[in-house]
Amino acid sequence: MKTIHVNASRQYDVCIRRGSLARCGGDIRAVNGGTAAALVTDRTVDGLYGQTVEQSLQAAGYRTVKFIIEPGEQSKNGENFLKLLNFLAENQLTRSDLVVALGGGVVGDLAGFAAASYLRGVALVQLPTTLLAMVDSSVGGKTAIDLPAGKNLAGAFYQPSLVLCDPDALDSLPEEIFSDGCAEVIKYGMIADGDLLTALKTPLRRQAEAVIARCVEIKRDVVAQDEFDTGMRQLLNFGHTIGHGVELCSGYTISHGKAVAMGMAAVTVAAERSELCPDGLYWELHDLLVQYGLPTQLPYGAQQLLQAAYRDKKRSGDEIHLVVPALRGRCVIRNLTMEEFAVLLQLCDR
Ligand code: GLY
Repeated sequence: MKTIHVNASRQYDVCIRRGSLARCGGDIRAVNGGTAAALVTDRTVDGLYGQTVEQSLQAAGYRTVKFIIEPGEQSKNGENFLKLLNFLAENQLTRSDLVVALGGGVVGDLAGFAAASYLRGVALVQLPTTLLAMVDSSVGGKTAIDLPAGKNLAGAFYQPSLVLCDPDALDSLPEEIFSDGCAEVIKYGMIADGDLLTALKTPLRRQAEAVIARCVEIKRDVVAQDEFDTGMRQLLNFGHTIGHGVELCSGYTISHGKAVAMGMAAVTVAAERSELCPDGLYWELHDLLVQYGLPTQLPYGAQQLLQAAYRDKKRSGDEIHLVVPALRGRCVIRNLTMEEFAVLLQLCDR
């Protein structure tokens, strides 16, 4: 087992251990009081692990209730958010009870925002079952729902009391969804750890526990310095500015991981051409993305992506904070005017 302690406005552990879903009740009981646990999950994950987790929670003395959503980003909406709050109230959860999010990023974000809002905050436990949720969305306290005007437009910073990652859950992930998580893992190598880039040349599935732990450590260090995303936490957005543009232009038919992969490749080409990072970094990134079944080519032109960037919620006035590689395993945040960003987008075109 690997345990990473997160030091944020609430302190908590992220535990990475094979088989942890089946024994989650005892681990949850060790850090939470309460008598009731509201399990939030999606229909697919419920079929795989719902019963196991419920039984473990009950064995630890919790009365359990279960709220099931349809899988997919479209479920992360205001209607489900209100339904979930009403469900918690109808089932008489009190302030000492807890919400347990079992699933990927959609479940974690929705359940997390509900936990932050219900009775002005009840305890939240994250049981991530996708690679992306294990290395990114379950850690660091960002919770949100989508609004008709865009993704993640309403939410809260709300840290969990415990995160339990069970690498065995990766065995049931469709390859496409696993690849999406690999994009975020490669991102951590690019922003903070050249040794992780080297390690990833060996298939991730053979070293899942160690890789997840390294990514969580990097995220922990970033969150400890900038929990509320006012500065260096933006490093975690490497590849995301252009990636969000790709997602938007595609009407969200291109997945987040694939869009981030394209965004990372594009920014790295532009950085190399501008002599902002060492020669050869792009091809190393390219080869890793290909190894993990991820795309490297932008499907849209500079003009379309620029229009999308104007709609990005992270734009501030005429400036965009772009994360750019500086060295192997190190990125920096550059504040670019939209004109400078337009020039950079031209350089992405290979
Ligand atoms: N997923 C980016 C962050 O947590 O800041």
